[in-house]
Amino acid sequence: MKKLFSFIFILQLYFVANAQQMTTNTGAPIGDNQNSKTVGEYGPVLLEDMHLIEKLAAFDRERIPERVVHARGAGAFGVFESTKDMSEYTMAAPFQGQNLKTEVAVRFSTVIHGKGSPETARDPRGFAVKFYTEQGNYDIVGNNLPVFFIRDAIKFPDMVHSLKPSPVTNKQDPNRFFDFFSHVPEATHMITRLWTDLGIPKGYQYMNGSSVHGFKWVNSNGEVIYVKYHWESKQGEKSLTVEEAAQQQAKDWQHATVSLFEDIEAEKYPQWDLYVQMIKSEDMHSFDFWPLDATKDWPEDKIQRIKIGTMTLHRNPVNYFQEVESIAFSPGSLIPGVEPSEDRLLQGRLFSYFDTHRHRLGPNYLQSDVNRPKNKVVNYNSDSYSSGRNQGFDQADVNYQPSRKSKASDTPSYKYSKTSLEKVTITQEKISKTNDYQQAGDFYRSLTEDEKESLINNLSGDLGQVNDKEIQKTMITYFYRADKDYGMRVAKALGFSFFDFL
Ligand code: HEM
Repeated sequence: MKKLFSFIFILQLYFVANAQQMTTNTGAPIGDNQNSKTVGEYGPVLLEDMHLIEKLAAFDRERIPERVVHARGAGAFGVFESTKDMSEYTMAAPFQGQNLKTEVAVRFSTVIHGKGSPETARDPRGFAVKFYTEQGNYDIVGNNLPVFFIRDAIKFPDMVHSLKPSPVTNKQDPNRFFDFFSHVPEATHMITRLWTDLGIPKGYQYMNGSSVHGFKWVNSNGEVIYVKYHWESKQGEKSLTVEEAAQQQAKDWQHATVSLFEDIEAEKYPQWDLYVQMIKSEDMHSFDFWPLDATKDWPEDKIQRIKIGTMTLHRNPVNYFQEVESIAFSPGSLIPGVEPSEDRLLQGRLFSYFDTHRHRLGPNYLQSDVNRPKNKVVNYNSDSYSSGRNQGFDQADVNYQPSRKSKASDTPSYKYSKTSLEKVTITQEKISKTNDYQQAGDFYRSLTEDEKESLINNLSGDLGQVNDKEIQKTMITYFYRADKDYGMRVAKALGFSFFDFL
């Protein structure tokens, strides 16, 4: 017995010696983290208990604004390994040779609903990848589907308002979003894809990704080629039917987050191959659609897909808030060798992401661990809240350039590429080559009979909740223009006859 007591005593000493002393945020040891300072045993609590006050104040500020879209997401970390040298086309660091390894951070997300919403909704899924290259951070901020609803950023806030819950009922309402889409025929292609079962991925590992937009690749001679990226899941593309999604929701509606986390914990590391499609500048006008229209796919039979590497995710976040909630992706986070294209939707996004990050995360968000480039940042952008970067990196007194004392210099070989413009008129018009229905029809015709059947069921299920017959009829007209069979089947499912359209 005596031996046992002395063993326990030694054990206690061991724990005390190895315990981490709790401190306040200002580093002072905390005497008691369980009892507030009071006036006697039964009196009120004292405001001078600074530890209590600071603890509550920290808690009061734990939440930051959630993302205005893509609020719910899961993240993971890993590596991209190149399999093909693309230096003929681009200076971009991750693609300069074979077997080059670049660290990556990835965030997958749903789009419309809030941070605590279910992962079983029909919704596009975000597929954002950050490459930490020696030339700075390069982000491909894409989705699981290769096209988008609209082609001009000016429509984005209205589109999102129509898809978000009503400002009156706080419920997502097909009456609202189909009202919007009935004025937007270019959405027919995306709607057709989203209302197949692809609209509810089985899990994040089972979806493909796409940059949606074309970007410019620039090589070391300053030559430009347009490029689109695609991620192909090595786990296969797998989706849930509406019935399966309902069953999943009843069991566990956070399944996508959980299964990504668990697969990585179990060392079943998910992988994606990265493919690119390229179009020469002089060929951009040779298609029956405008390749920089985000409602259009670049057909594989006309524009070959070339595999350039593989991404493997092998680490889960250690702290969700710091590494996933606070990560900031932007389509404008580019490196030498990649430039934005003239895509109108992309041009709006270039502004929107950096702007929302300053609002959501504060002006110095690029100094946090997950967002900081792995290479050294050298410029004189300075100060504001939580500035931790040493601005006077060469001489403390010099925070400007040019200067006789500053060692900071430009690198002229990385100047932006040149673009020649013919005589142009500044205007505010829709593009002329809209071709809103062709690719929606091509996609519909490529589906199996079962896939067509579930598209019709899924669409008529949601469109059937719309009270206004004019909205339903307009949407049917769009589907009919894409493919007669498609339009007629949706019409039939909604109880319309031929005479209703006369
Ligand atoms: C997130 C704006 C179109 C993919 C966001 C966020 C904003 C935004 C404000 C929140 C970012 C944050 O808080 O960190 C826009 C605008 C668009 C647009 C204005 C059109 C003009 C698109 C398109 C795609 C896309 C076409 C896909 C190609 C994403 C993804 C995220 C996101 C993946 C989540 C990034 C993350 O995981 O942190 N978007 N978006 N967005 N957007 Fe867009």
